[in-house]
Amino acid sequence: MIQMAVLGFGTVGSGVVELIDQNQDVIKRTIPEGIFVKHILDLREFPDSPYCDRVTHDYQDILEDEEITVICETMGGKNPAYAFTKAALERGISVCTSNKELVAAHGPELLSIAAKNNCSYLFEASVGGGIPLIRPINACLKQEKITAVYGILNGTTNYIITRMEKAGLSFEASLKEAQEKGYAERNPAADVEGHDACRKIAILSSLICGKTVRYEDIPCEGITGITTTDFSYARAMNMAIKLLGVCRVAEDGSISVRTAPFLVRENHPLHSVQDVFNGVFVHGNMVDDLMFYGRGAGKFPTASAVVSDVIECAKNIGRTVEFVWDNEIVPLSDPMNESYRYFVRVSSAEAAKAGEIFGRLSEIRFEGMPEDEFAFVTPKMTEGEIRKTLNCFVSASKEQRIRLLED
Ligand code: HSE
Repeated sequence: MIQMAVLGFGTVGSGVVELIDQNQDVIKRTIPEGIFVKHILDLREFPDSPYCDRVTHDYQDILEDEEITVICETMGGKNPAYAFTKAALERGISVCTSNKELVAAHGPELLSIAAKNNCSYLFEASVGGGIPLIRPINACLKQEKITAVYGILNGTTNYIITRMEKAGLSFEASLKEAQEKGYAERNPAADVEGHDACRKIAILSSLICGKTVRYEDIPCEGITGITTTDFSYARAMNMAIKLLGVCRVAEDGSISVRTAPFLVRENHPLHSVQDVFNGVFVHGNMVDDLMFYGRGAGKFPTASAVVSDVIECAKNIGRTVEFVWDNEIVPLSDPMNESYRYFVRVSSAEAAKAGEIFGRLSEIRFEGMPEDEFAFVTPKMTEGEIRKTLNCFVSASKEQRIRLLED
């Protein structure tokens, strides 16, 4: 039997333990000896849990148990997850994780420690929750030149957006619901300010280029500046506002990456990705467009992805499941040179000025819109140009624009 341990008995960690019990019969089709969770590491006691006898507060109990071959790190955050992961890999124990913060910050280093110690560091659950995405990229698309990967990568914000749009809930009420459903990070700022999606697009961008895209280098905006009025304008344009992570590789090989809210047209498949679901596009030069879709957060969907990695490790005991992800840092293209069309709102007093600057504009209107506003979509222009141009308006800050997703 494969003996394993789980670090962190929170939403995902408890999902892993329960899933392994519940689906042991199907798991045995691949791993006939079965998988058993021998230890659960957490600071808390769980007296009412059927697994309470497996809880330990001392990581050494796990590291020093020679029967343990796989660890699931579902603690989240960099510390102590980083030290715990390193210590396990150095002993030849494979680690499977849902911890995108750690993967984005130390992925190549941990992969290289795993390779030196004939074990694996796997992170399917770190991007897209339950969606199989990392393994398809790493195993099925090695022959492709991938020129774009983009999509909805954060379940919490997509849930918030959907509830604000469809149920008319406030931002705070929608966030509270997402937290109650176990979607949000411990500190929801990581979700709503875009950092979680940013780390995920950094991981995907790194995997498609085989080098390191640092999330610190990626321009990152969240959804905190989006208002219910913006949603109404979006509806008037037959569009939806979605928080996207976008990575594009230009013909000359230069790479641009961004996390921001985008307006998505109605006939784009990402338009209908709602609730906690994530949707990710990958474009390969031979396979063309692929789309991955599923629950981007939540106890069992995320646990499912973690356990898929446990099975992969169990099939490869004594070997390394390899990734091409070098620690060489990729310089990203200057974000100021990216071009988009932008949705902009200014005061009606500045409507004439908008016409002079941008040329002929169609006003976007909806019933009940603010009386003193003029809203429009600009022609295509660079980030540098829109910033400079918006500075000419008293009623619009340079931040006050939403990009349109073009494809
Ligand atoms: N908070 C994350 C999200 C969890 O909502 O997408 C899954 O990574």
